[in-house]
Amino acid sequence: MQRPALALAALLAAAACTDATEGPDPTDPGDDPFAAQADTSEGLTNVSADLDAVLEHGALATACADAAAHPTDRRLRLLCGKAMFFDESFGTPGIPRPILTWLVQHFPEQVGPGFAQLGMIADPRSPDGLPLGLPAGPRFGSVDAVSFGCASCHFGRLPDGRYAVGAANHAYAYGRMNLMMVVLPSLAIPGADPAAHDPDAIAAIQPLRDRMAAHPEIQNALITALLPLITGGGGAMPMVSRESEHWYASWRSGTMDFFIQPLPFDDGVHTVSKISPLWAVPDDAELAAAGIDTAMLGWTGGTASLHNFLAAFVDLGGGDLGQWPRERLAPLAEYIASLRAPLAPTPPPAADVARGRAVFVAAGCQACHGGPRGMGDRTYGFDEIGTDAAIEWWADGADHDGAPAGGLRFQPGDTITHAIKSPRLVGLWAMTRFLHNGALDSLDQLLCLAPRPDVAAPAFGAGGHTFGCDLPDADRRALVAYLNAH
Ligand code: HEC
Ligand code: HEC
Repeated sequence: MQRPALALAALLAAAACTDATEGPDPTDPGDDPFAAQADTSEGLTNVSADLDAVLEHGALATACADAAAHPTDRRLRLLCGKAMFFDESFGTPGIPRPILTWLVQHFPEQVGPGFAQLGMIADPRSPDGLPLGLPAGPRFGSVDAVSFGCASCHFGRLPDGRYAVGAANHAYAYGRMNLMMVVLPSLAIPGADPAAHDPDAIAAIQPLRDRMAAHPEIQNALITALLPLITGGGGAMPMVSRESEHWYASWRSGTMDFFIQPLPFDDGVHTVSKISPLWAVPDDAELAAAGIDTAMLGWTGGTASLHNFLAAFVDLGGGDLGQWPRERLAPLAEYIASLRAPLAPTPPPAADVARGRAVFVAAGCQACHGGPRGMGDRTYGFDEIGTDAAIEWWADGADHDGAPAGGLRFQPGDTITHAIKSPRLVGLWAMTRFLHNGALDSLDQLLCLAPRPDVAAPAFGAGGHTFGCDLPDADRRALVAYLNAH
C-alpha cells in the first residue's frame, strides 16, 4: 500500500509539536486505540440481515434455564444474557398492554405493526404486532403490561439493513411514543380538555387525534380497552405534567431525558442524552492496562461498571434489587461486554484511512480519545469541550449540592462528575446522531465540513467540540474515513 505524502506531512507535524518518542506513533499498531479485538461472542448471531437468526431461532425462551442447568457453559450464559436483553422487564413497571395493542391496531400509518413508524422493530414472535424491546412486565391489577427493555433503545438496523444488537436506535421516537401512550388516551376520556396540555405535545399526536375524530369506533375501542384499568386496574394511568409533556415533544428521535416523569425520580434538570451504542465496552483487564480506574459509563462518565449500570437501571426503574443480585445480572453484563461494533459493508479507501490515522494523532484527537476504542482516560469540563452544558447538573439537580437529587439513589462507586466523557469511537459509520445530546447528524457536521444545525436552546445546543474544524478539508475528509473504518 502506498503511503500518501500528506500523511507524512502530518507525521512530521506531530513530531514537531510533541515529543515523538513519547507520543503515540500512528504507524505502531500497539498505539492504535482501534486495534482489532478478540471475538468473545461464543458464536451468537448479534448482527445479521436475518432477524430470526439474531433471535437465535427460538433458543432465547429457555436460555436462562439451560444456563442454570449447565453453569460452566459460557455460551449458554451469554445466551441467557441475550434473553435478558430482549425479553426481561426486571420487574420495572411500564405501560398497560391494551394501550399498545390499540395503537398498533388502529393507527397503521402513524404507529404501524411493531411501532415501525416510530423507529422500533416488530417482534416476529408477537401475535399482536408489538415491537421488540417491550417485554411483559408487572401487571396493573388484572391488566397486562409491558416494560421498557434494553432492546427498545439498544437494538436497531444498520444503514445496510442488517439488524444489530447494541446499535443505538437513533430512529426511535421515544418522546412521541410516550405522548401516544399517555396523552392520547387521556384525551379520549369524555370531557378531557386539550387546552390543559402542552401545545407541542398535542401537535405531536394530532394526526392520531384527527383519525380518532373521523372514526368514533377507534375511541370506543380504547374505552373498552381501558375499562379494566379504570375499574380494577390496581393503579392509575401513568400521568405526566404539562412541562414534562413539552420535553417529550421536543426530543429528536434517539434522544431523551431519563430522570423525568412518569419515573418516580426527577432530578429537576432537563438534560438531553442520545442513546449510546453498547459496542466494545472495555473489560476490567483492558481498563487496567490503560491505567483507567472505572468504566466511565453514561455520558457524564460517573457509572463505574456495567454491573452498576444494570443495578441502577433496575433500581431506578422501580425493580427490586433484592430479586436482582449481582450474580443474576451477571449474564447480561457479560453478554453486553461481548458485543462488538460491526464494520461497514463497504470500508472507506485504505489510503484515506491511513492518512486519517496520522491526522488523528497529529491533530490531538488521540490525546482525548486514546483509551480502549477511543474512550478517554478521564472526563472533561464543559469549558474544555464547549458542548451544551445542561448535562453538567445531571442527577445533581437545581440545588447544585453534589448529591443525587429528587430521591435518586446511586450504586456504590458511582459519582456525579459535572463533566462529560470522551466516548468510544466505534461503529460511528452506523450512527445518525452525534454529541451527547444528539444535536448533530453527521461526522461532516462535527468536523465543520457541513453546516451545523443552528440550535442553541439549553440542553439542545449544537455548538462545541470544534476540534479539527480548522484543518484543511482533505485532512478532515481523511479523519471521517478513519472514524468510519472501525
Ligand atoms: C428508553 C431507552 C433506553 C433503554 C430502555 C435502555 N437504555 Fe441504555 N441508554 C440509553 C441512553 C439514552 C443512554 C445514554 C445515557 C446517558 O448517559 O445520559 C444509555 C446508556 C447505556 C449504557 C452506557 C453506555 C456507555 O458507553 O456509556 C449502557 C451500558 C446501557 N445503556 C445499557 C442498557 C441496558 C443493559 C439496558 C436494559 C437493561 C438499557 N440500557 C436500557 C437509553 C436506554
Ligand atoms: C480535549 C479533549 C478532546 C479532543 C482534543 C477531541 N475530543 Fe472528541 N470528544 C471529546 C469529548 C469530551 C466528547 C463528547 C462531547 C459531547 O458529546 O458533549 C467527544 C466527542 C467526539 C465525537 C462524537 C462521538 C459521539 O458518539 O457522538 C467524535 C466523533 C469525536 N469526539 C472525534 C474527535 C476527533 C476526530 C478529534 C480530533 C480532531 C477529537 N474528537 C478531539 C473530547 C475530545
